[in-house]
Amino acid sequence: MHSEAFSSVEQLSYLLDDSDGVVTTLANASAYLNELLPDINWVGFYLLEHGELRLGPFQGKAACTRIAPGKGVCGTAIAQNRTQRVEDVHAFPGHIACDSASNSELVVVLHNASCEPVGVLDIDSPLVGRFSAEDERAMERAAEIISEKIRQK
Ligand code: SME
Repeated sequence: MHSEAFSSVEQLSYLLDDSDGVVTTLANASAYLNELLPDINWVGFYLLEHGELRLGPFQGKAACTRIAPGKGVCGTAIAQNRTQRVEDVHAFPGHIACDSASNSELVVVLHNASCEPVGVLDIDSPLVGRFSAEDERAMERAAEIISEKIRQK
């Protein structure tokens, strides 16, 4: 990702309105990131509810609705409370293939005010190795902004 795109992430602060609800905020965030990021085929959210990740707003093909912590790339991110940047999803043990076109994936964790994980931002690409270390930092910043906007809703 170019540094221009990195600064575009900051635009989320202005695009997303504190007074909106969680669905509204995540829907607009997924639409914005879908426009911003080239060469992706899925971008969206899974939120922790009743001890599992449940599908939230997204852009892309219909996806699996529930993921157990520890399962797949998203479940690993939430269980380890750590970003997963996967060069080749076919080499990731337990990867959950929602869209067969996906070849690489970046999953970053959303946090509440106590820094506990509350969900993930998941981005898939048809390209192998699509996501750089800079993309990882930029999407972690995006997740920070989005996390703040959905707090106390
Ligand atoms: N591939 C993810 C599942 C979600 S879809 O990519 C939208 C995973 O392994 O957790």
